[in-house]
Amino acid sequence: MFGRLNTPEEIFSYDLGAALTMERDTLAMLGRLEEAAQRPEVKQLLREHAAETRVQVEVVEQCFALLGQEVDDSPCPVTKALAAEAETKLKKADDSLADAVVLAAALQTEHHEQAVYENLILHARARGAEQVAVLLESSLAQERGAGDRVKALAGRIAVTGVATTPEGGMSTGAKAGLAAGVAAAVGAAAAVASRVGGHEEGTGGHAAHRAEAPVTGATATDLPSAAPAGTTTGATTTTTTGTTGTTGTTGTTAGAEVLNDDALEERIAQSEHRTTGS
Ligand SMILES: [Fe+2]
Repeated sequence: MFGRLNTPEEIFSYDLGAALTMERDTLAMLGRLEEAAQRPEVKQLLREHAAETRVQVEVVEQCFALLGQEVDDSPCPVTKALAAEAETKLKKADDSLADAVVLAAALQTEHHEQAVYENLILHARARGAEQVAVLLESSLAQERGAGDRVKALAGRIAVTGVATTPEGGMSTGAKAGLAAGVAAAVGAAAAVASRVGGHEEGTGGHAAHRAEAPVTGATATDLPSAAPAGTTTGATTTTTTGTTGTTGTTGTTAGAEVLNDDALEERIAQSEHRTTGS
């Protein structure tokens, strides 16, 4: 540990030591997030990145060796702050909503790690430590890949419904929110199609929000106690717009369509298929 940092090389070594602490902290945090996560796919993603993170710890240690230095760590308050923030939110949030907290914390951490590696790589190159730069680039690629996977999963969950049942599936409230969104989108599409020439740019999006209002007004009352109105994504959005919605009556008609369980599951499957593009 340096008392003062008097050269660019000392700053680099300090930052490399902070990266080591960052990866160790991240490994602990990923374990905690996996424990709190509700969906199997979220747990799996965190587990896979934990395996990558173990390698990243070793990579940093190899970088010290390549520089002919003893492995030395430096403080990394950022990862500790991110972990503390996640812990606070997990305590405050209902368990059914934990995945949103978990994925937000993971995404923030991945972005921080990417910035740390980008900075280390450019300074490694500047001092001619090419092997160090190449090693760090492998970790950067993993961080970017992990960040992209976290972001994609967070986006899918945000659209299809954040809340889960105790078994890890979507809650009734989330299903209702998704069904309302699907039905409203159908209605909105019909409303847009009825307008000649599509003169209003972005009409489809606005119409979709307006059309959701009356639909959700009906479904919000069906929300289970574990996912009260106002905490489930679909319900929150559409309840708010419901107070101002004045158009999209075609969407209302579509939203009033009664979906049995089979039809609902099919709509959800179709929506997820579109989201993932698989
Ligand atoms: Fe990472």
